[in-house]
Amino acid sequence: MPLEVRMLDDVRPDESAHEFLPGMSRGGLMPWYDLVARFRGLSRLYRRTVELAQIGPGQHVLDVGCGTGNLSREVLRAAPEVVVTGLDPDGDSLRRAARKLRRRRRGEVTLVRGFAHRLPVPDASQDHVVSSLALHHVPADEKERLAAEIVRVLRPGGSVTVADFAGDHASRHGHENQRRHVEPGHRPGHGPGSRTHDADNADGGIERLLTTAGLHDARALGRMPLLGDSVVFVRARRLA
Ligand SMILES: C[S@@+](CC[C@H](N)C(=O)[O-])C[C@H]1O[C@@H](n2cnc3c(N)ncnc32)[C@H](O)[C@@H]1O
Repeated sequence: MPLEVRMLDDVRPDESAHEFLPGMSRGGLMPWYDLVARFRGLSRLYRRTVELAQIGPGQHVLDVGCGTGNLSREVLRAAPEVVVTGLDPDGDSLRRAARKLRRRRRGEVTLVRGFAHRLPVPDASQDHVVSSLALHHVPADEKERLAAEIVRVLRPGGSVTVADFAGDHASRHGHENQRRHVEPGHRPGHGPGSRTHDADNADGGIERLLTTAGLHDARALGRMPLLGDSVVFVRARRLA
């Protein structure tokens, strides 16, 4: 029997003008996202994120910036009967995610339209918060609110696992070790004029964000090359 996927809209009237950068910079291009993701071998990134999160049977997992549901799908594969909530402001991506996730057989899924600054789950309700390639879409002030929200929604002992661009580019001209900060709007795969926030992640920015919010043991557990940059995997936990 196909999985039941609940769809909720949690955008408040005062948030309806809140801007966001969709997965391919422009909403209309979203049908191509999964093709690009497959072509770029992103399944490895989703698998690695979920491995590092160490999700157990029946656990509650929130996927922030879930887009078309690729990471959520990997979460459902990882353990039986997991309860997944996917959050994204892009309704088109969520509808696509729903179509994909209905094909899974086990677990529970709720997809919520909303923003990273207000997580749509109760206090201390989640065993894990996960997120892939979404933080660089979120401006610094909203990321700070997200980090505080992660502390609120994680149960004691729960963990957050994030994969996002590390914010440095290996030089394309052979200077492999030369690093430079990425200027907003220069992320490959995003059109001109689209503003990304990779630079916030540079020099341990994700670890700093999570630590400042009160999470513990925030550390980078690995890297993976992607689009001329590298993706860093960071995990932190809420103290038991
Ligand atoms: C590159 S896509 C990644 C999607 C998915 N996590 C994946 O790895 O395939 C970035 C996602 O972040 C979402 N996003 C942008 N701004 C956001 C915000 N303020 N809060 C939550 N998600 C946001 C976009 O709509 C998009 O789906």
